[in-house]
Amino acid sequence: MKKTLITGATGELGSLIINFLNKKNSTSDIAVLVRDTKSKKALQYAAQGFDVRQGDYNDPDSLIKAFKGIEQLFLVSGNDIEARIHQHENVIKSAIENQVEHILYTSTVRKIEDSSSPLFPVVNSHRLTEESIIASGMNYTILRHNLYAEVIPLFIGGKEQILQTKNIFLPSENGKSNFVTRKDLAEAEANILTEPEHHKNKIYKFNGNEALNFEKISRLLSEILKARVTYLSPNINTFESTMKNTGLPSEIIGMLTMFSLGIAAGEFEKEKSDLEIILGRKAQSIKTFLQETYI
Ligand SMILES: NC(=O)c1ccc[n+]([C@@H]2O[C@H](COP(=O)([O-])OP(=O)(O)OC[C@H]3O[C@@H](n4cnc5c(N)ncnc54)[C@H](OP(=O)(O)O)[C@@H]3O)[C@@H](O)[C@H]2O)c1
Repeated sequence: MKKTLITGATGELGSLIINFLNKKNSTSDIAVLVRDTKSKKALQYAAQGFDVRQGDYNDPDSLIKAFKGIEQLFLVSGNDIEARIHQHENVIKSAIENQVEHILYTSTVRKIEDSSSPLFPVVNSHRLTEESIIASGMNYTILRHNLYAEVIPLFIGGKEQILQTKNIFLPSENGKSNFVTRKDLAEAEANILTEPEHHKNKIYKFNGNEALNFEKISRLLSEILKARVTYLSPNINTFESTMKNTGLPSEIIGMLTMFSLGIAAGEFEKEKSDLEIILGRKAQSIKTFLQETYI
């Protein structure tokens, strides 16, 4: 494999990609970007023989140093929605300066790109990053992700909460999403990194194969938990004031509201997907994911 650097290596998606890559490739071909080389995860990578590089998306000098000798770069999008356009620009410029051949980027699926989208801040930062990457002259692969299945318990609560309240309370109306597990995304993306020549200058849409609304999720959870779970979609004011009364921080309430409105608008309901072609198998079903998560 070409000398490859994975950013976001201490995070959930980055860790899974590195695991899958390491099954087929030698650790010496895999560089991992971490902000803190003394963190537990960074020390673990070093002990396993990975090429650990220090870098922060906010610090162009660190990135220029970290990308030395890298042929392909996997950019895991940053999680600071406001700062990330600037952060991603730093990554792209540093990659160009180091003559990186191929850049891969985790973006988002969407329908509406303008400010009428409830998800405008999210979508816009991804759209602008995609444009910069395409204009950069490097080979690229854009990986547009649907919502991770792993966000379901973050949106609706885990087993204990659901068993206690017996309901799902989210203003996402009847909106459906083609949720996809991080594990499936990571395996597909490791496949792409291993054979990048087949994926040059492509934009892939990675969706799960079932479009589910929270009504359906409540029925699945009723089965799994052997308790009747109902779905309530309140209006935004009721949702926000109820969440505030539970003591949830306002930025979390804002995120939940924004994504619920995006789901309600059908932003994550998709018909086609490139995921199973690249995986060479079926994607994990959300029923199985929920069974494993809510045991
Ligand atoms: N499609 C979806 O449903 C969905 C859901 C959640 C997130 N996302 C997006 O997908 C990305 C990956 O998801 P994830 O679950 O793996 O997130 P995660 O576990 O929060 O990992 C984020 C990674 O990015 C690194 N990072 C953050 N800011 C950085 C900076 N300034 N410089 C260098 N590294 C930085 C973090 O490093 P540290 O360990 O140093 O913090 C961490 O390794 C997220 O960042 C977000 O953009 C998508």
